[in-house]
Amino acid sequence: MPQKISLTRYLVEQQRVDGHIPSQLRLLLEVVARACKSISQAVNKGALGGVLGTAGSENVQGEVQKKLDIIANEVLIEANEWGGHLAAMASEEMDGIYVVPNRYPQGEYLLLFDPLDGSSNIDVNVSIGTIFSVLKKPEGAGAGVSEQDFLQPGHRQVAAGYCIYGPQTTLVLTVGDGVAMFTLDREMGSFVLTQENVQIPPDTKEFAINMSNMRHWDAPVRRYIDECLAGKDGPRGKDFNMRWVASMVADVHRILSRGGVFLYPWDKREPDKPGKLRLMYEANPMGWLVEQAGGAATSGRQRILDIQPGKLHERVSVILGSKNEVERVTGYHAGAA
Ligand code: AHG
Ligand code: MN
Ligand code: MN
Ligand code: MN
Repeated sequence: MPQKISLTRYLVEQQRVDGHIPSQLRLLLEVVARACKSISQAVNKGALGGVLGTAGSENVQGEVQKKLDIIANEVLIEANEWGGHLAAMASEEMDGIYVVPNRYPQGEYLLLFDPLDGSSNIDVNVSIGTIFSVLKKPEGAGAGVSEQDFLQPGHRQVAAGYCIYGPQTTLVLTVGDGVAMFTLDREMGSFVLTQENVQIPPDTKEFAINMSNMRHWDAPVRRYIDECLAGKDGPRGKDFNMRWVASMVADVHRILSRGGVFLYPWDKREPDKPGKLRLMYEANPMGWLVEQAGGAATSGRQRILDIQPGKLHERVSVILGSKNEVERVTGYHAGAA
């Protein structure tokens, strides 16, 4: 029987053989994985653990927080603050950055996360997840750490990934050497490598978008979806299927597994906001994973990873997945400009 490769071994080999990751980053990723295991356990207990329902508070973006949003946020902070590998953390569920308290040593990495993605699916037993992104404190930033240190474009990420809590708990990771997937072996309590070198096929017959917003879309997105819906007899000459889980982790996981295109575009409901999804802890990590798997990720106008963030909770329009489809929608935007 082939030997099972644990996440620990994969990371050690990335460090030792391939020189991709310094030991502090390896430690950081181990700790994030441990936190995800603990969140997975809380998710699995559900009503038995008293973790369902709302917490009765709002986050900085005006969303009602679920109990699990807050629990997951706390688990990630408590797991990561004492290890000495981090300078600070930022999260969807926190207004400002969380600087590592000075009773612990300060590291040089910055960790950003969406502690619980797919909050609207928590109470209905549908897949949810945790998304994370790792940056390095900029060179010459001096002592201490500020929000400004986080405002780096996505191509500066040194690690990114997510953990999906579905029928299986699966951790999906890139450190810039392709995408690897690790399934949680609950008996052993460890993540085991179950797929390496994940590749997204360049073409697809499946799209993911919240169709209820159709009347609010801009012309290029409307055109793209109209053409997909026209099927075999339309300009695309093939029938398309549609999926929308409403958990970005689940929609992206499907795309990494069998291809497809995901869109959460800007729309006219909130004309002043560039989109719904958050650049720093949703679009950037997912964008890098998708690119590392041979796909593409744009805002319609620009490569996601090239966007210079102006603030921590910046939002962005997102189109990602199978390369040829993403390029097509992006091309429609260029034509409309
Ligand atoms: P979160 O639960 O972290 O706030 O993110 C929810 C996001 C994303 O996961 C998903 O793709 C999208 O919101 C769903 O939005 P709609 O409910 O508008 O379809
Ligand atoms: Mn939210
Ligand atoms: Mn999210
Ligand atoms: Mn969230």
